[in-house]
Amino acid sequence: MKKIIFSVLLAVTFIMSLNVSKSQAQESLYKRLGGYDAIAAVVDDFVPRLVTDQMLSKYFVGASDESKMRIRQLLVDQICAASGGPCVYIGRTMKQSHKGLGISEAEWNSAAGHLVASLKKFNVPEKEMNDLVAIVVSLKGDIVEK
Ligand code: HEM
Repeated sequence: MKKIIFSVLLAVTFIMSLNVSKSQAQESLYKRLGGYDAIAAVVDDFVPRLVTDQMLSKYFVGASDESKMRIRQLLVDQICAASGGPCVYIGRTMKQSHKGLGISEAEWNSAAGHLVASLKKFNVPEKEMNDLVAIVVSLKGDIVEK
């Protein structure tokens, strides 16, 4: 009898664990990142790193605090929307907003490094980090010009 109860319990536990991993797999990246506030916190850490980077600060020399705040908000909206969240990105395309800036591959790498540093600071797990980086990397061709 004990053996039967044990087997049934084992089977139930196994089926439950299957359901849990199924629902986790179906969860949007937005939810897995922790939602809007978590994304905003990462962006709020990332933008100051980007605009004060020695190699990149020249791009933001003429930008007012308000202009930087505008980019910050558009980044939050962009990541929220692209990861399956309830936001709508109403900014310009990456091509439109970066065309003519002449951003290089090295500068891109530096920016990507800052994003990863911000994600790590907030202990974003490896899988979610890779999924978000993949989204950002998909924009590279429209941002890098040389
Ligand atoms: C080396 C890397 C980068 C530099 C130097 C850079 C620089 C800039 C600058 C100067 C602007 C303002 C352009 C303008 O208002 O005319 C801008 C806008 C923007 N950037 Fe970047 N950027 C970089 C990478 C990225 C990446 C990786 C993303 C997305 C993940 C991104 C998303 C945006 C967004 C959403 C805007 C606002 C678009 C708009 O004005 O409608 N940028 N960027």
